[in-house]
Amino acid sequence: MFTGKDIERFANIETPFYYYDLTLLQQTLSACASAAAMYNYHVHYALKANFNPVVLNAIKEKGFGADCVSIGEVQRAVELGFRAGKIVFAGVGKSDREINQALDADIFCFNVESVQELGIINDLAASRGKKARVAIRINPNVDAHTHHNITTGLDENKFGVNSWDLPACVQALKDAENLEFVGIHFHIGSQITSLEVFRNLCTRVNEFAAWFEDKGFVVRVLNVGGGLGIDYHNPDAQIPDFSSYFQVFNEFLEVKSYQEVHFELGRALVGQCASLLSRVLYVKNGKKKNFVVLDAGMTELMRPALYQAYHQIENLSKAGKAAALRYDVVGPICESTDCFAKELELPETARGDLFAIRSAGAYGEVLASGYNLRERAPALYSES
Ligand code: LLP
Repeated sequence: MFTGKDIERFANIETPFYYYDLTLLQQTLSACASAAAMYNYHVHYALKANFNPVVLNAIKEKGFGADCVSIGEVQRAVELGFRAGKIVFAGVGKSDREINQALDADIFCFNVESVQELGIINDLAASRGKKARVAIRINPNVDAHTHHNITTGLDENKFGVNSWDLPACVQALKDAENLEFVGIHFHIGSQITSLEVFRNLCTRVNEFAAWFEDKGFVVRVLNVGGGLGIDYHNPDAQIPDFSSYFQVFNEFLEVKSYQEVHFELGRALVGQCASLLSRVLYVKNGKKKNFVVLDAGMTELMRPALYQAYHQIENLSKAGKAAALRYDVVGPICESTDCFAKELELPETARGDLFAIRSAGAYGEVLASGYNLRERAPALYSES
């Protein structure tokens, strides 16, 4: 929710820019940290959701670990002071260079996504005279009931080791002298809004943990991934219900005294704390449609173009005025998918009006692209 003071502050600032509400970020982090502490759960923040240094610093200060998917993310986490022992490295395609550099950084563990990768990490660790800690990312074939482009835990997805490959995985682990098995890892998708899905995940995690222990392994870490969704339709609700989320795991996950439960949350921690601010360049009133053309486009917020994602859009210059017309709200990029909303009811809109596209903190700034040779939009932070 933007106050009159915020809008005054934005008056002379060039658009587009990302605006971060750092107070809300702190509140969200505290809510998550205290809910997780109830059960001694460990939360690694998924850097891919947002690696803005100011945001990352706040997350590190709160004691979260880091979940990374490239050596670039590992290095960013290390530079910003995340402890190596709290960094995990996932990803279906880690290159040899990335694996070597992560071994040198002595991160907590690699989340390994194929039998072949296990062999490669073992060889690379051997040639460095090291032991690599590994967790096996298992594809549990659990439907996340989210957009198909952000579903990752079904048999047809590229991620993780499928159940039929687990015997080969066990053999590879037994043969590998330079690997230390620490546990099992799952991530079934993103923007999951039904807690039932996590309950189903728990059932599968219990089965796979028992299977590994039956084969003689000690499963010290149960990493259940991330995926908790946020309410894009109600950005002022702001803080996701972490308590209910962790409660599901507390109730349905079987955890032994020597086991740790790890989470990898991205969107839920940062999604609501940012908006994309943009001004209206042109209004085109047509016979069939009216268009509001913004100075921000899919280059600053790709989610609507990629996943037809909904983001609440507000005309801050006309706050409090009744909706008068329907507009397609589009950006300046030369792509028809560069559209933030279709047939959106808004107050009568004019050139120069300031718009806020809400809930842009996760997979917003990080997904920015230089297409059309656009300049990167800067970030602005709340003053508190
Ligand atoms: N762990 C792994 C292995 C992941 O692949 C992801 C996200 C996460 C954790 C964090 O998931 P979260 O808690 O943020 O849902 N760009 C898409 C989302 C892609 C998610 C990719 N993986 C979007 O804008 O909706």
